[in-house]
Amino acid sequence: MNLLITGGAGFIGSHVVRLFVEAYPGYNIFNLDALTYAGNLQNLVDVESRENYTFLRGDITDAAFLEEIFSEHRFEAVIHLAAESHVDRSIAGPMAFVQTNVMGTVNLLEACRRHWAGDYEGKLFYHVSTDEVYGSLGTDGLFTESTAYDPRSPYSASKAASDHFVRAWHHTYGLPVKLSNCSNNYGPNHFPEKLIPLAIHNIKSVKPVPVYGKGENVRDWLYVKDHARAIDCIFHRGKLGETYNVGGVNEWRNIDLIELLCDVMDEKLGRQPGESRKLITFVKDRAGHDARYAIDSSKLMDELGWEPSVTFEEGLRLTVDWYLANEDWLAEVTSGHYRDYYREQYEKR
Ligand code: NAD
Ligand code: DAU
Repeated sequence: MNLLITGGAGFIGSHVVRLFVEAYPGYNIFNLDALTYAGNLQNLVDVESRENYTFLRGDITDAAFLEEIFSEHRFEAVIHLAAESHVDRSIAGPMAFVQTNVMGTVNLLEACRRHWAGDYEGKLFYHVSTDEVYGSLGTDGLFTESTAYDPRSPYSASKAASDHFVRAWHHTYGLPVKLSNCSNNYGPNHFPEKLIPLAIHNIKSVKPVPVYGKGENVRDWLYVKDHARAIDCIFHRGKLGETYNVGGVNEWRNIDLIELLCDVMDEKLGRQPGESRKLITFVKDRAGHDARYAIDSSKLMDELGWEPSVTFEEGLRLTVDWYLANEDWLAEVTSGHYRDYYREQYEKR
């Protein structure tokens, strides 16, 4: 099978590429990535020389480039992860999100429709999406696959639009598709603009750890390798035309999570208990900050037998260990433009 994975140099994409390259030596895996600030080929050094792996640098907003690579490589399946993925950046500059997440997804759908030309046997377009399309929950309830869409940030609106286009191509043109909507991921290779890696970096550097508002917002955290396992499971065994929610059954208020992380870091860095908690700093809230996300993954668990393989405490320790063992990776991604981003995002707050 010639399999195209988009966004494979990013956080989740790199774990998906590695899993597929290692588990399926008979597939030819093509990783298409524009290498934006979030894409990093260092994430894949361990698989880059495998025979079944090819990197293609390019932009999904460039329809002519997609035409070229679809003609050359005759992809039979696509796992689409390429996206602008950070909510705060979408608030500061929404147009890149419209371009990549909406236009880029439609370009890919069109490339598949043209090249598969109605011969859909053995073909698949798998779209990786987010739980944020469902909006924000109150203190109880869970997002299910039939929860009505209610996106509230430019990021989630762009992902919701992309989901609608994928379903429209299925219903109108019969394109074989699958979708999944996942909760917050964490783990190795996570870019330090997101809460957990940003906090690890700041705690390690003895810098303030910014917590938005009162830290009462709730997220449902899933270890990234468990998300990659879910994608494998849905890609191979999910039903065509269906959506699967993926979550960790693991809700945390931001402040409780950050306190736990501070305690783990104190232990790992040999600091006095309670020392890193002193770095916690409450800052101005995110505009339109969604209160709570929580996912009901029972369809995926009951129908396909998937379940998370690590507890949150185990996953968090593995994550901290990875960042402490990969100081060069962290130093490289936090140099250059990251400093401008950090100043703009936090020092004016
Ligand atoms: P990320 O920002 O770490 O990586 C995105 C990748 O896409 C990068 O390698 C980047 O270079 C590439 N990219 C961006 N624009 C591109 C373009 N125009 N053309 C080609 N490549 C481009 O993102 P992530 O956190 O790994 O998320 C991957 C996918 O999973 C996204 O679709 C996101 O919406 C979804 N998702 C993320 C989470 C999460 O917690 N991070 C949860 C659920 C769903
Ligand atoms: O739910 C899935 C989504 O999770 C994905 O679709 C997104 O791509 C991913 O970025 C993530 O979105 P969040 O906005 O939930 O993640 P983030 O790490 O940015 O923030 C997590 C929570 O922590 C959120 O309530 C905002 C808060 N926060 C975040 C940052 C960066 C802080 O309190 N301080 C911070 O500095």
